[in-house]
Amino acid sequence: MSDFEDKVRETLANPKNQGEMQDADSVGTVGSPDCGDMLRMWLKFKEENGKKVIDRASFQSFGCQTAIAVASMATEMLKGKTEEEARHLSAQELSGDLGALPPMKIHCGQLVEGALKSALDQSPAEEPAKAEDSNTLS
Ligand code: FES
Ligand code: FES
Repeated sequence: MSDFEDKVRETLANPKNQGEMQDADSVGTVGSPDCGDMLRMWLKFKEENGKKVIDRASFQSFGCQTAIAVASMATEMLKGKTEEEARHLSAQELSGDLGALPPMKIHCGQLVEGALKSALDQSPAEEPAKAEDSNTLS
């Protein structure tokens, strides 16, 4: 078994940030034409030193083990990143410690990247929502 597969297996034993986020500021969903899988990512922002940064991220994936492992890595890595920094992360960078995505699995990483970009596109334009906003989803 390859190093990559070992790491995917390890990550799947304890995936991070899996599940719907009730108080998210934005959500993005993408499907992969290559395999029919779907991935959804939720983002919550906060203000830190006058900058809007990602406070938390979570995801749901339907089916694909590699996408789950990449999304677990990515949602950890995104904490504290600005929108701009997050937007520039490639599928490979989002895979973090999993290592180089094998050619057959690149689209799994791109699914995570796509869900992230879709969620970023829907994030509130200016400051993060104030605590008392009436439009919180819960
Ligand atoms: Fe998702 Fe490939 S169809 S694992
Ligand atoms: Fe299609 Fe992984 S096999 S997203």
